[in-house]
Amino acid sequence: MRIELLEQVDSTNEYIKRHLAKEENVIVCAEEQTSGRGTKGRSFLSGRGGVYLSALTFYDDMPAANAFQIMAHAAVSVCRTAEKFGASPEIKWANDVLVNGRKLAGILIENGLSGGRVHHSIVGIGLNVRNDISALDGIAVSLSEVLPQAPTVEEARNALIENYLRPSTFFEYLSYVKFLGRPVRIVEGEREYDGIARRILEDGRLEIEERGRLRTLSSGEIRLKLSDLKLSE
Ligand code: BTN
Repeated sequence: MRIELLEQVDSTNEYIKRHLAKEENVIVCAEEQTSGRGTKGRSFLSGRGGVYLSALTFYDDMPAANAFQIMAHAAVSVCRTAEKFGASPEIKWANDVLVNGRKLAGILIENGLSGGRVHHSIVGIGLNVRNDISALDGIAVSLSEVLPQAPTVEEARNALIENYLRPSTFFEYLSYVKFLGRPVRIVEGEREYDGIARRILEDGRLEIEERGRLRTLSSGEIRLKLSDLKLSE
């Protein structure tokens, strides 16, 4: 896999899109982004001190139904990296990585679909290492806030790349999921209700028990609030 390091870019995901025509797998990292992109059209704080990585992968035969594997693998790569330096990450379904209940990384996945298959994916990961995230007080966390000896950006970037390039399994993903069996609040459009998170299916859907009845929900349909964690979205 070719790895490209940039000083500054608008967004590593966007940079990759401009190079998509080459049909070559690549990882692009930047020291900073001037227009970092988050999910749901939000922006992503991308100052120096963080790792901003996007990986472009082309697939020969990946059914769209398996696309959750891409998301799960991205979250596992971040968890492995956080653990390597001594932090204790957990995954909040579907792919938020939390440390002490706050978000350590943002993950933005943009898949190119064609005929029921994933043709390519762009996995964008923003990992908070030593960057200033004070504007996101209480929501985000950086490695330097939770570790007495935080890695340098370069160390964190190298570890993230290495961990991303090593395959993962669904069981490894589940090993970082700690909220199953616990009460959760489900936000479905205008409706909010309480339930118990029961299990995550291999396709990424979440099984919730609501007043004794099981429902299977996909991450596109609902938002989860974990009552005993600080993060509310
Ligand atoms: C989110 O939490 O909303 C997702 C944020 C994803 C941020 C990463 S940083 C690298 C890549 N480039 C971007 O512009 N966004 C993703």
